[in-house]
Amino acid sequence: MPCLSDTMRTQEAVFFHIFRFHPDNDKKPYLQKFEVPFIRKDLTVLEGLYYIQQRLDDSLAFRSSCRAAICGSCAMHINGKYRLACNTQVSELKTNTITIRPLAHMPIIKDLVVDMKPFWEKYEYIKPYLIPGKPLPATGERLQSPEERVKADLLIDCILCACCHSSCPVTASHKKYLGPMSFLNIDRFVSDTRDSAKEERLAIVNDEHGVWRCHTIFNCQEVCPKDLNPSGSIAHLKMEIIKNKIR
Ligand code: F3S
Repeated sequence: MPCLSDTMRTQEAVFFHIFRFHPDNDKKPYLQKFEVPFIRKDLTVLEGLYYIQQRLDDSLAFRSSCRAAICGSCAMHINGKYRLACNTQVSELKTNTITIRPLAHMPIIKDLVVDMKPFWEKYEYIKPYLIPGKPLPATGERLQSPEERVKADLLIDCILCACCHSSCPVTASHKKYLGPMSFLNIDRFVSDTRDSAKEERLAIVNDEHGVWRCHTIFNCQEVCPKDLNPSGSIAHLKMEIIKNKIR
């Protein structure tokens, strides 16, 4: 991993206040302050975390992988908003004090690492794969028109970072609520003309833990680092449920 060199230090510094908690050692969580040199205009929060881990405290735990806003693993709560640490530049926060906490509504494993099991269970439950129904044509491809493709394309970019899941207050109060990530990903298949399980998928969201429990708070839409619109998917799924009923 690239590491910030001491020789590149400037006078400027950024102060990271990081949520720390080791369930085996700590009675309760606390914030720990670290000083990180602000060496470049485009320094990211993730680079700051690596600096701390590699230079100041190698016991700091956090997740990251691609460093390109694609894997979704470095999602965390940064200065009041759920974001990806890899595509959040320190300069865009417009302060030299950065407070970082882990994703919400999931048990803490250590520091900024949470147990994503509740999130992945919901993802598994919604059957996040194509159910084509018909055998593959002899051509070997399930063709779509460009217009058909566009409908699913707008939803396909979800990176499963859980920013929307953590920002939703209904997810906080109702553990079985499927939540914005599930709705967006169900909508992705409901909108895909190659899928034949529309009724089954609509039944999943049309129950007490489904779309009708959404309070249209829009946090999910505001935090999505890929600019997707889970609340738009919720509205679309509600419409599809109603259309199905009156057909
Ligand atoms: Fe939650 Fe988004 Fe609805 S934040 S309440 S799922 S609009």
